[in-house]
Amino acid sequence: MIAEPGSPTLMGTYSPAPVRFVSGRGTELFDDEGRRYLDFLAGIAVVSLGHCNKRVADAIAQQAARLMHVSNLFHNELNERLAGDLDRLVGDGAAAGGQVFFTNSGAEANECAIKLARRVGGPGRYVVISALGSFHGRTLATLAATGQPKKHEAFRPLPEGFRSVAYGDVGALEDAVASPTVTAVLLEAIEGEAGVVVPPDGYLKAVRRVCDERGILLMLDEIQTGLGRTGRWFAFQHEAIRPDVVTVAKALGNGMPIGACWARRDVAAAFVAGDHGTTFGGQPLACAAGVATLAELQAIDAPRLAEQTGAYLAQRLQACDGVASVRGKGLLLAAVVEPGLDSAEVTRTSLQLGLVLNAPAPGVLRFAPPLTVSRAEVDEAIGILGAALAASSAGTREGGQG
Ligand SMILES: Cc1ncc(COP(=O)(O)O)c(C=O)c1O
Repeated sequence: MIAEPGSPTLMGTYSPAPVRFVSGRGTELFDDEGRRYLDFLAGIAVVSLGHCNKRVADAIAQQAARLMHVSNLFHNELNERLAGDLDRLVGDGAAAGGQVFFTNSGAEANECAIKLARRVGGPGRYVVISALGSFHGRTLATLAATGQPKKHEAFRPLPEGFRSVAYGDVGALEDAVASPTVTAVLLEAIEGEAGVVVPPDGYLKAVRRVCDERGILLMLDEIQTGLGRTGRWFAFQHEAIRPDVVTVAKALGNGMPIGACWARRDVAAAFVAGDHGTTFGGQPLACAAGVATLAELQAIDAPRLAEQTGAYLAQRLQACDGVASVRGKGLLLAAVVEPGLDSAEVTRTSLQLGLVLNAPAPGVLRFAPPLTVSRAEVDEAIGILGAALAASSAGTREGGQG
């Protein structure tokens, strides 16, 4: 454990926890003092295959020794292959018939989607409707799309052309898209950073209908929910709808930074050469990691693991003293703690006891372990969480008496 948080050399945009991880294996992390932790955050839903998955590590090592980067001024065999693999997952096993732009992060994937929506809309039709509570990234445009006004304050003026409506409210969305300036709706299928907020059943289907009626794009940000985490390849597949644009990142490289914006072919066709670009996006090294990651996720049937282990974790969480309710899908779950308990404090105590979690919203604990997590590891994590919750509630009682 590190005594002093913060760093003399890094900008203070984070308040890192007082621990320095130096290695990982599967669900386990090890710190610089050799202590073992269970990682139920997986680098914020990134390391879905567990830390240092051999197939991905080997693919990266081999590609690093062969060819890492050439730029998008030339073809490379790996980005086309990865685009095809991703397209088949968007189509739930059958080709979806879309095209892909590769990026280095989730925010860049959403930037691509936003620019594409403006290109499709044409002059005067540029507004993107998002949802309150959403999180779409930290670049200026994705921050503007992020439906959290508090995060906007320090950075005004933001790019114009973004409006947010209540998540899960079809009527509010219908009102917002009535303007002829609207070109697209951008939504998370489950709001991860808001605290794993699941919209009412049928919401995405209704949004699809609204978008069809208005002739505007439905763009789904599956950066946190995608690639098996919720028990389907993509969370929109729970409702059997077809979006026009899907963004992914996080789990796509199992830790290698890579994102992607997928779009239906006729939508993607709105981009012409020179409209958008990236130096690194789609490079052989990152795409080799992506190809290996998707192959391994399919080999282990990641959605089935997420569904089954997720159901077990949800049931064990529900039975914990101090947990009021559990929500989410698959292995993207949140436990809402009993009133009076401080979820941030519970994560700090959990970390001291050897369990990595986070508290994305007040009163909420998020669980996004590797999809490969075992039931024995779930049992061990529940034991640690129970101790952390008990310590927090004892502290609350003492505080209350004082
Ligand atoms: C739903 C969603 N969209 C976008 C992003 C931004 O991704 P990145 O941090 O890779 O830019 C995140 C990151 O947490 C996310 O959860």
